[in-house]
Amino acid sequence: MLQFPSHGANYEQLYKNFKLDMPEIVYDLSENVNFLGYPKQIENLWQQLLPKITAYPNPLAEPLRTIIAEKHKVSPECILVGNGGAELLTFYAQLYKGKKVILVHPTFSEYKMTLEAAGAEIVNVTVNDLVNYELPLDEIKCHMKAADCLYLCNPNNPTGALIQKNAILELIEHGESVVCSLLIDEAFMDWTGEEHSAIEFVTSHENVTVVRSMTKMYGIAGIRLGYLIGRPDLVSTLRNRLPHWNVNNLAISIGIECLKDEEFRLRSINENLAIKNEIIHFLKSYHCTVTNSTANFLCFQLQNPDETENVYFHCLREGIVLRHTNNYEGMNGKWLRIGMKNREAMDKFKEVLADWHE
Ligand SMILES: Cc1ncc(COP(=O)(O)O)c(C=O)c1O
Repeated sequence: MLQFPSHGANYEQLYKNFKLDMPEIVYDLSENVNFLGYPKQIENLWQQLLPKITAYPNPLAEPLRTIIAEKHKVSPECILVGNGGAELLTFYAQLYKGKKVILVHPTFSEYKMTLEAAGAEIVNVTVNDLVNYELPLDEIKCHMKAADCLYLCNPNNPTGALIQKNAILELIEHGESVVCSLLIDEAFMDWTGEEHSAIEFVTSHENVTVVRSMTKMYGIAGIRLGYLIGRPDLVSTLRNRLPHWNVNNLAISIGIECLKDEEFRLRSINENLAIKNEIIHFLKSYHCTVTNSTANFLCFQLQNPDETENVYFHCLREGIVLRHTNNYEGMNGKWLRIGMKNREAMDKFKEVLADWHE
């Protein structure tokens, strides 16, 4: 049995697992970190960051926490900064030991892993329309009556689809009436716009918690940074369970620079959009089905989905790493996810896919 990894990135291991010779040049399109890298000001700051290495960080990640609170117009007590969104998702999942949580598939595989590790019972709902990721609202609402929490990923990973705000509000209000919380993971919301975010509902509805990642848009996956916005009592419960200095000094300083650089974020959105539009056009010219993505990645399905694994390995042999979908429920490995990268990488992908079709 071939061992497919549970996440994108770290492709060296992938070639090892599959006993494939790794080409000299490999383009990793299996992960979704901004190909423009990080805001340039971080380089200018680098020297000033060095003395921070020896000092313990502020345990609440101040002053970053307050800056995040101002950005989202909430009080700092509603913010919990984490060593990546992944850390916050892990600790949040632990609230549901022995409880029922609804997952809407296909979605980020880490929810299932962290909830299972925490001893939660998972209720699975699968979306049929993968292109638009239209939620089966009635089915979800029905499950919410007996569940303690509903997880939503918005925009969704791996499809990139945006869930409409009115659908989210409908689920939040239903959750209030049946005592079901919502965890809304907005790891990729920076690619769309705050008007789509559910953060405003955190202060108006007690059952809403939002998780954000800063590693994607700001290209700091190696530094690790994310935050959670929730009710102050929930934030305080989670804070007490997290390691005391969970966010390091470099991450705090770099995070502050990232949030200052709105020009970088807007430029990233525009450059990614131009590349995404070209790729969509290219994939459609080969009769692929493409998800309606608002993020910096998308999923596509080949005209003959049975060829997916062959194409995946053809790409690997040619130095293009795509994200398989074997561990995404509802996709059954019949789709591939591609992250937007620089022109050189995307041109190579086009060349390799065109070559396979010949
Ligand atoms: C949907 C989603 N949420 C959260 C995360 C965690 O991101 P990080 O821990 O890098 O902030 C990821 C990472 O891939 C993701 O795709």
